[in-house]
Amino acid sequence: MKKFYITTPLYYVNAAPHIGHAYCTVAADVLNRYMKGQGRESFLLTGTDEHGSKIEAAALAAGMTPKAWADEYAEKFRDLWKHLDVQYDDFIRTTEPRHEECVQKVFTALQESGDIHKGRYEGFYCVSCETYFTAVEAPDKDGKRYCPNTDCGKPLQVVAEESYFFKLSKYGKALLDLYRAKPGFLSPSHRANEIIRFVEGGLQDISISRTKVKWGVPVPGDPGHTVYVWFDALINYISAHGWGRDPQAFAAAWPADVHMVGKEIYRFHAVIWPAMLMALKVEPPSMVFAHGWWTVAGQKMGKSLGNFVDPRDVTRDYGVDAFRYFLLREVPFGNDGDYSPESMRKRYNADLANDLGNLLSRVVQMVDKYLDGQLPRGTDLSKAPQASRLSSEAGAFGAAMRKLAFSDALAIAWAGVGRLNGHVNATAPWALAKTDMDKTREILCDLVISLRIIAGWIEPFMPQTAAKMQSQLGVRRFPDGPPAEKISKGPPLFPRK
Ligand code: ME8
Repeated sequence: MKKFYITTPLYYVNAAPHIGHAYCTVAADVLNRYMKGQGRESFLLTGTDEHGSKIEAAALAAGMTPKAWADEYAEKFRDLWKHLDVQYDDFIRTTEPRHEECVQKVFTALQESGDIHKGRYEGFYCVSCETYFTAVEAPDKDGKRYCPNTDCGKPLQVVAEESYFFKLSKYGKALLDLYRAKPGFLSPSHRANEIIRFVEGGLQDISISRTKVKWGVPVPGDPGHTVYVWFDALINYISAHGWGRDPQAFAAAWPADVHMVGKEIYRFHAVIWPAMLMALKVEPPSMVFAHGWWTVAGQKMGKSLGNFVDPRDVTRDYGVDAFRYFLLREVPFGNDGDYSPESMRKRYNADLANDLGNLLSRVVQMVDKYLDGQLPRGTDLSKAPQASRLSSEAGAFGAAMRKLAFSDALAIAWAGVGRLNGHVNATAPWALAKTDMDKTREILCDLVISLRIIAGWIEPFMPQTAAKMQSQLGVRRFPDGPPAEKISKGPPLFPRK
């Protein structure tokens, strides 16, 4: 069976990663862990986008070579993923030979198929967005032109140079056919229309090489040109699996099941990328999912505003799991969200310290006190109404995960946590234990089994928490390991802040 294949964008190494980068990567990690937990062979690719004017300029400003700069910053991304418990299966850098060679192979293949031709480009370029704009898209304002992207607005460069072009115009109809044939390709569905309208409006051929940018992959046979950084970077999704080099490895992973991207780079992934693949005669991915943007206390994050949220500042205060939980619980994946220290603290105290943390410690303490930490063997769900209700919701939980509706999946889990807390209050096992030990045992068993189910559900989101819960709940982690049915108290999962 083909691997389930998930990708994140390759992040630019112009600056250190912030909460926005963490968001997409953690979401991809959650899906990857979920798939693996389901017994599926799953593969998460992430990495760094290291060529182009933006990196060249950042390195120059720091008095470093682009390569030395990229080495330093790629490491910052890797370190953060390690810190955030992201278990990627491969990390690709666009400066690696395996990638650069593949870019050149793609370029040559598309020249041979007649999809690339040489011409002259005259227009405008935004270095910050690494994007070309026409005079119509970026109209003259008092002799200057500015990036029309709402989150950018920086002054544009004038570009007039010989350039290679990719025949994007040829693929308009095929793209519209693809969107119709694979309705999940453009996800979430509320973002599909914007792409369809753009393609219906007619596509222009795009410039895919620069003579003025030295830091890039040289065009094969014409080294005065370097490949446009986006054309270069998109190819990572297939270079990492050996396209053109190792057909067997390629077939084991491709087509990608999900490209997760931020909404600002949706067009590159939902229009240009599948057209490139069509030109290469390679099947398009199954889904491109555009997630929303995080603002900070209502403001866009920006260097000039100095309000980038460093994930490590949040994890120092609340821990890695709480941060992962917050990112995926606070807003539906696909919508925009706002980060503020207050919203983080509120989620932490309400959902994690009060709801989940208290529930676990109450249940474990009672099992310790009334049952001496021992549960009867076996799981009789007929005497465990709470656990059987949770089991009946496993299908809905799984369906939400497969749709990337992470906040819905967590809401199902937390509705369960809420019911369990209510059940503890309503049945008051501490009082019942004085009169009816059998009933007390039954209730506590039900609660323990229920909490084991919850721990399993939250594992992809909060792996450390799930492991702590499982250890307190006496879950045997390995089928042939020693019996570990003893329920034993541990420190609180989430001390109140
Ligand atoms: O675009 N909120 O790289 P990039 C949510 N190199 N997500 C955010 C975010 C925010 N405020 N800021 C960044 C590039 N992101 C290209 C991609 S792919 C072949 C090349 C996340 O470093 C989001 O996923 O600008 C966004 O798409 C990505 O970081 C952009 O990272």
